[in-house]
Amino acid sequence: PFDRERLDEIIAAHKNRAGALLPILHDIQAEFGMVDDATVPVIAEALNLSRADVHGVLTFYHDFRRQPAGRTVVKICAAEACQAAGGRRLQAAAERLLGVPMNATTGDGAATLEPVYCLGLCSVAPAAMVDGKLHGRLSEDRLTTIIEEAIR
Ligand code: FES
Repeated sequence: PFDRERLDEIIAAHKNRAGALLPILHDIQAEFGMVDDATVPVIAEALNLSRADVHGVLTFYHDFRRQPAGRTVVKICAAEACQAAGGRRLQAAAERLLGVPMNATTGDGAATLEPVYCLGLCSVAPAAMVDGKLHGRLSEDRLTTIIEEAIR
């Protein structure tokens, strides 16, 4: 989903700078919550790139979402300090609870599960962010409760 007029404005704001593609994709995601594949040809034409180039960049960065997010977004830290503190177990607990792997959204659109690479909470690892709220020193049970409350 995207508004063509707004898309054109975003493109126009960056178009004449070098390296315009990434800021354009970031702004599209900020504006529409995702980067619809249908924006690819529009961006490619405006920047004089091939569709394959734009698509390649879009799919290379995990930050860009190509499907609408679930109503609740669960981001589990997968960076080093959290991994060392049991982050993988948190990930497994969230996957079990929601029934989807990382980088996926539940079939009913209730929640999206994603990794994130450091939330700045390394000193209270393992950490996660649920609907924009940060949580540190998480146990599997605590994370499960937080997610259950968020999707209720
Ligand atoms: Fe997880 Fe920094 S490594 S918050």
